[in-house]
Amino acid sequence: MFTSTNPSDINEVIATVPEATADEILSVLRTAKKAQKGWAKLPAPTRGRIIANVGRLVESNKEALAKLITKEMGKVYSEALGEVQEVVDTCDFFLGEGRRLYGQTVPSEMQNKNLFTFRMPVGNVFVITAGNFPTAVPSWYIVPALLAGNSVVWKPSEFTPAVANALTSIFHAGGVPKDVLITVVADGVQTFAALESGLKEGVINKVGFTGSTEVGKKIGAKAGEYIQSACLELGGKNPMVVMADANVDLALDGALFAGFGTAGQRCTSLGTLWIHESIYDAVLAKFASLVENAAVGDPFKNVLFGPMISQKYLDNHLNHLKMIQSHHQVFGSTSTGRITSDNPRKGFIGDPDKGVFAHPVIVAGITKNDELYSTETFGPLVTVGKFATLDEAIDLANGHGYGLSSAIYTKDPQNVWRFREGISAGMVSINNSTSGAEAHLPFGGNGLSGNGSRQSGIWVLDQFTRWQSMNWDWSNKLQKAQMDLIEIKHDPNFLLNI
Ligand code: UN1
Repeated sequence: MFTSTNPSDINEVIATVPEATADEILSVLRTAKKAQKGWAKLPAPTRGRIIANVGRLVESNKEALAKLITKEMGKVYSEALGEVQEVVDTCDFFLGEGRRLYGQTVPSEMQNKNLFTFRMPVGNVFVITAGNFPTAVPSWYIVPALLAGNSVVWKPSEFTPAVANALTSIFHAGGVPKDVLITVVADGVQTFAALESGLKEGVINKVGFTGSTEVGKKIGAKAGEYIQSACLELGGKNPMVVMADANVDLALDGALFAGFGTAGQRCTSLGTLWIHESIYDAVLAKFASLVENAAVGDPFKNVLFGPMISQKYLDNHLNHLKMIQSHHQVFGSTSTGRITSDNPRKGFIGDPDKGVFAHPVIVAGITKNDELYSTETFGPLVTVGKFATLDEAIDLANGHGYGLSSAIYTKDPQNVWRFREGISAGMVSINNSTSGAEAHLPFGGNGLSGNGSRQSGIWVLDQFTRWQSMNWDWSNKLQKAQMDLIEIKHDPNFLLNI
């Protein structure tokens, strides 16, 4: 059994759910695989109407779902409302896709012959997601996968089973058959074993994974063995570059939200704030003061951030604190590590001893050789460094090999275009935070952040469909492509005589 608890009050149990074994997951994969053909036979516009129902139900259950998210994984309530809205937006986008899902008519090189393309569902999709976005990120996979005629088995984070079951029940209430979307909670070892046997047996036709780069590598490699490419959304060490001409207050609003929103546990969270050397001291001092004075605590109150998702995430954060070196300067709070009554944070809202809260940390003086430069910290820890030229900033922003989100603050269009061209990240923000992507633009990363797959918007359809091309020759004779060429009468030496 898995028991999820409230990270603001770890004695409060939110849910106890059965823990599936690899065999149980495999049996669920078989069930969903069997159901897929019938689901694909429903006209796409009908599937679109079902997605529309799901969207309306998520909307009418928005507050209840958001409350459960805040209780089970600890993000502040306003962010939880935003996350649920992202599910609604995703449904709203894809309900219309049911009436498009366009293929093409393509001219043939021969007469009396027509060419066409069709989008075919891939089959059964195995979706594995993390606890930091327990509804929005899963919906990026589940909604388009279902719309395109696939069945889905969803393995949510073991830290958010109550949210996962609530969201699943909304999909079912909206009209998705129970065997077309099945949710199973399991640990990593059992999930990986089921992944392997499901791929081998052909009951997994696509894998969607959001999580760490380390696990993503293993999942991608396993899928590759079975001639599949997984849709991978992995870690980030997202840079924010503040040029000398930037609106500093705007940049720091962005840095505060991107660095510490969701307690830094977004894949789009700010990694390193790169400040131009001419304004470094002043901007760093301002940032330190903003973070030192920010409210931390009860996520139902007006705070910058609440608890970590769980003890595991707190432990991970504590390990990253060990990477701080003597040449670094630390700012941001009255202490570092877990916030307790013995290790207090000024102005903390609530009882820190009950939950798994962490002090916000700014580690300044970061250089390219530091471990923290290239480590995704996934907690309330922001590194800060300086640069002299835009080229150097771009080099620092790319140098660790991650490439998910990025941002630049400047008033100069030259800087904007040079940054956009030079940055290797899949997502670029201009005068805006690294986090908070809209749900209908392509979301995804390059390098260590992903294998080029994109989620959201029309782009994700290429993950959950395969192009089938059809040619229809109605000439009643065998016409040979590339060989039966139509002769063109022309004069290749023609020159104007004027
Ligand atoms: C994630 O952390 O996996 O852009 C997704 C954002 C959110 C999604 C984050 N819309 O910050």
